Amino acid sequence: MEVVITETAAKAGALGADAITELVARQPNAVLGLATGSSPLAVYDELGQRVRAGTLSLAATQAFMLDEYVGLPADHPERYRNVIEREFVGRVDIDSARVHGPDGRAADLAAAAADYEDQIAAAGGVDLQILGIGTDGHIAFNEPGSSLASRTRVKTLTHQTRADNARFFGGDIEAVPQHCLTQGIGTIMNARHIMLLASGRGKAEAVHQLVEGPISAMWPGTILQMHQHVTVLIDTAAASRLQ
Ligand code: F6R
Repeated sequence: MEVVITETAAKAGALGADAITELVARQPNAVLGLATGSSPLAVYDELGQRVRAGTLSLAATQAFMLDEYVGLPADHPERYRNVIEREFVGRVDIDSARVHGPDGRAADLAAAAADYEDQIAAAGGVDLQILGIGTDGHIAFNEPGSSLASRTRVKTLTHQTRADNARFFGGDIEAVPQHCLTQGIGTIMNARHIMLLASGRGKAEAVHQLVEGPISAMWPGTILQMHQHVTVLIDTAAASRLQ
């Protein structure tokens, strides 16, 4: 695990964009893994600037989202599909049809989860997975206690995660869905390179556990210690509990 501490989240975002730029230069049809939430926004912003400047094209890539809320209306602004359209597709030159996500509106969620695993496998797996981490240590929506070998499935969000994400729902925790479809920890571990971003003091304990804690399902991010190619990009506040 390589840990890079930067002064600001924007600098971490630029480093993240560098890794994607180098990957796409080597492999224009690379498969990217996309996280939602605040942490990857600096990366998406930087990628957008490079595409607009003509120094990068993501047109031949494909992308797979990590997770999706269950049951939000198709046009809900916080449905992760819509967030990714706004924050990623809208900034770069990838066609929306090349971006895939789990179907949180499917009548049969278990079948949708299995189908999503098949789609990722059919694409040849994820080359570079962007990750955030929850204050409770979750990666994607694999909450504490998740199986470290899990695959895409339905999960119940913890009170902590719903409270953390209430900021996207007008501060109303009741408006945050209770369930999600999420790639499993085993699914994420299959990515060839994992790049995790975190910023702010609120992430300091989760980052400490991720980097220095014992591997435990109670801090799901700790399993990344077992992956052979992980880059952790954090600002000084998120790094403040590292020894
Ligand atoms: C989002 C996701 C989550 C977030 C995590 C951190 O697709 O899978 O694991 O990465 O909740 O969220 P932010 O970045 O908003 O602090």
